[in-house]
Amino acid sequence: MLGEGTKMEREEAAEKIIAALDVDTEEEAYALVKQIYPPVSFFKVGMRLYAACGPKIITGLKKLGVRVFLDLKFHDIPNTVASTAEVVTSYGVDMFNLHLSGGSQMIRAAVDASAEAARKRGIPAPLVIGVTVLTSFDEKALREEVGVEKKLEQHVLNLSLLGLENGLNGVVASPREAEIIRKECGDDFLIVTPGIRPLWSVPDDQRRVLSPRQAIAAGASYLVIGRPIIRHQSPREAVEKILAELTGG
Ligand code: C5P
Repeated sequence: MLGEGTKMEREEAAEKIIAALDVDTEEEAYALVKQIYPPVSFFKVGMRLYAACGPKIITGLKKLGVRVFLDLKFHDIPNTVASTAEVVTSYGVDMFNLHLSGGSQMIRAAVDASAEAARKRGIPAPLVIGVTVLTSFDEKALREEVGVEKKLEQHVLNLSLLGLENGLNGVVASPREAEIIRKECGDDFLIVTPGIRPLWSVPDDQRRVLSPRQAIAAGASYLVIGRPIIRHQSPREAVEKILAELTGG
């Protein structure tokens, strides 16, 4: 039997996991949730599932009692992003994100529109998170394909500081950059890290990966984990193995 301390550690570790529901149908999404909730209670709806199902996937997940991170990575002119932020806030999402490279006006407009929409409806404002550099990028691709001459880490840090200055709750970043962001942006700034690969899993298309335990040690607040859980023959077993790794079991 688990001791109290171990049970608490396990709950704390489970709180840090956001499972990415990268599937195509509502049925598959709900089936996954049912397999791993609890202990996992935060789920990410990305563009694939959202494009397939529309907003009803959000209300459906909320009815199951879980938290929803809507990962649509908004990047457009400030007015468009602000009005979209208002719409997704009205769906009751707990977190959504935008690309920091959209700039300060876009970021500020989204944060303000979301806060105002939540206030009007009397619901808690969602956490608004900025995407720094996708974890599938490496420095060479960033320089040669996108034309960013700065060191990747410096670019990620500059974008994170831009988010902090413009009212964001945190950033999405590779776990490899978590340490420098934590140091420069403070303890209250959320660092949401995809690119997580437990030691037993394969990297797929992610290039800047760390294990769950390494990511938490580097300062990550939340770990977004997709394929290692959802493509595992038993998602439940994958979650158990990740929790065991996080709690040192
Ligand atoms: O399957 P995997 O664990 O690689 O899934 C990571 C999830 O996080 C995917 O849904 C991906 O779209 C998302 N993501 C990412 N890198 C970012 C932001 C989001 O991999 N910078």
